[in-house]
Amino acid sequence: METKGKLFALLLLFSLVAVSTGHGEKQNARLFVIGDSFVDTGNMGNRTSDGLMLTDYIASFLHRRTPVIYEQRKKASKSELEDGMNFARGGSGVLDVSFNNYSMALQVGNFKEQIAQNVYTKVDLENSIALVSYTGNDYLYKTTRQKGTMKDVFDQTKPIVDLLTKNLREIRGLGVKKIAIFGTPPRGCFPGKYSETLRKCDKTWNKASRQHNKLLKESLKILNKERHGSKFVYLDLYNAIDSALFDKIREIVGFANRFKACCLDAHMCGPIAQKKCKNPELSIFWDAGHLSQNGANIVYTYLVPSLSPTPLGYYFGTYSYIFI
Ligand SMILES: *[C@@H]1O[C@H](CO)[C@@H](O)[C@H](O)[C@H]1NC(C)=O
Ligand SMILES: *[C@@H]1O[C@H](CO)[C@@H](O)[C@H](O)[C@H]1NC(C)=O
Repeated sequence: METKGKLFALLLLFSLVAVSTGHGEKQNARLFVIGDSFVDTGNMGNRTSDGLMLTDYIASFLHRRTPVIYEQRKKASKSELEDGMNFARGGSGVLDVSFNNYSMALQVGNFKEQIAQNVYTKVDLENSIALVSYTGNDYLYKTTRQKGTMKDVFDQTKPIVDLLTKNLREIRGLGVKKIAIFGTPPRGCFPGKYSETLRKCDKTWNKASRQHNKLLKESLKILNKERHGSKFVYLDLYNAIDSALFDKIREIVGFANRFKACCLDAHMCGPIAQKKCKNPELSIFWDAGHLSQNGANIVYTYLVPSLSPTPLGYYFGTYSYIFI
């Protein structure tokens, strides 16, 4: 019975493939990345990880190499440009003034410029996926550099999501057919915000993230109703990280420092740490704001089902055509 079930699943898979690759869609989708440090693989100088990041895992899901970073585009070969391009920058938000003052709108501008220069054609874009990472830099900027309160964060949520939505429409306007966007993570469970003594996440920050995500999902629903031939996919980073942190089995097998940063040099770390935890492979966070390679790998496995909308996609997740 077991074998029969598997065979049936395989047959079903092949018929899905036949349907979705009917019209010359054999080429794997290019990946364009826009957003913040969760996906920036070097535009701001460093990866904020000891190794692979979600960008790398999602590119491999699409059978693509990690896309070239915008800052290195002139050194990239034609074949490398085929994989897509990463415009993301650590510190970016949607507001003009942020940690780096390089808003998402400016990144979309970089993308537009590449299209104007014919690096990517209309057909290329139709067969592309945009990954948008907004993990909340405007909120963090508000409460740190601008000394704002959590009330300010809640008050800011609606205008931020509206601005984010405006950027998403712009990306769609470029002709990208699939646009996947992260929800904000459970910020209150991040190192520094998680209370080691109470063994609790910061409830207010988590609530703020959920509020953002609720509005974002409502927005995506509206965007998906506008007949435009493009689809928006919500990637549930909140629950993926939450699951990685609270998995009972992981707790038993020794992820003792799940809520602590592995890199001990600073609040934010590049890939090489002077001081770090003994077992990075048992960590989730690399620094106070970012996943370690191990964390990204685990979180990625929780994201795969939303990358592939069919239940089979979970098992055959490495095939990009299910996503297309
Ligand atoms: C961003 O712009 C603001 C306002 O113009 C300025 O005060 C701040 O220093 C700038 N930050 C960076 C990183 O350039
Ligand atoms: C990148 O990270 C390394 C340490 O991992 C650090 O020495 C270097 O200054 C960082 N570079 C930039 C541009 O931030």
